[in-house]
Amino acid sequence: MAVREIMLSTRHLGRPLRIFDELDSTNTHALALADDPSRNGLTLLARQQSAGRGQYGRTWNAAPDSSVLMSILLFPPPPLRRPVLLTAWVAVAVAQYLTRVTGLSAKIKWPNDVLVNGRKICGILIEQRTSGHSEFPLASVIGIGLNVQQSADDFGRAGLPLAGSLCTLTDRAFDTPEVALGLIEQLDAEYGRMLAGDLGTLESLWRTHLDLLGKDVCVELHDGIAEGKLAELTFEGLILSDGDEPRQIVPEAIKHITLSNS
Ligand code: BTN
Repeated sequence: MAVREIMLSTRHLGRPLRIFDELDSTNTHALALADDPSRNGLTLLARQQSAGRGQYGRTWNAAPDSSVLMSILLFPPPPLRRPVLLTAWVAVAVAQYLTRVTGLSAKIKWPNDVLVNGRKICGILIEQRTSGHSEFPLASVIGIGLNVQQSADDFGRAGLPLAGSLCTLTDRAFDTPEVALGLIEQLDAEYGRMLAGDLGTLESLWRTHLDLLGKDVCVELHDGIAEGKLAELTFEGLILSDGDEPRQIVPEAIKHITLSNS
């Protein structure tokens, strides 16, 4: 297993950054290291994965060097442990990074996808484990797959006609390691703001990138469906008004949100 290790000059992530020629899955590897809180901030990058994992038990495949395949191991303080916060942090940082390098606006599709021009360019897989350490009981592994160099033909062959990469969306060339480093810096800055206690900025950016407020939505819950106009959207929950009593729903109860007329 060929691996290089570097220490980035970031504050929280990539300290160290390990870059593998190949791993089964960066998330699986990070989870195996999740018993030791001194590894907080360890970031793993793989040029390719032989058993990359996506949400809902799906696989995540990408040709060597075609995309950022990254996992970050964190032991966040209690106020930052909720998956909804960690997901929002990563999705917002990815969206901001994409806008910075492409000039295109990026949207978050609840809960874990980032889209540009309606095409999925990034997926996020957050997994948590108890670390067995009393002071830091919960380890979080944040997995990110960001498409960089794939062509429209690559996506067609993979049966993913609605996917996009930095190259397909801009017609420009991108260097995958450079994209990875830029993204780590963006994530590091946003994580620093969260650690400093500012969740309001993240919440407001998350709301903007979700672009659902005031719209008629269909909310797929773990135990049913709810529909109505989205009157409020915060980390504490969303409020649906549908003519009757407004209904409050906590983020943890929600699988997907789509526009009612889509
Ligand atoms: C999704 O299904 O949209 C989430 C995909 C997450 C893929 C990334 S690639 C790096 C990390 N390692 C994995 O095995 N999965 C995540």
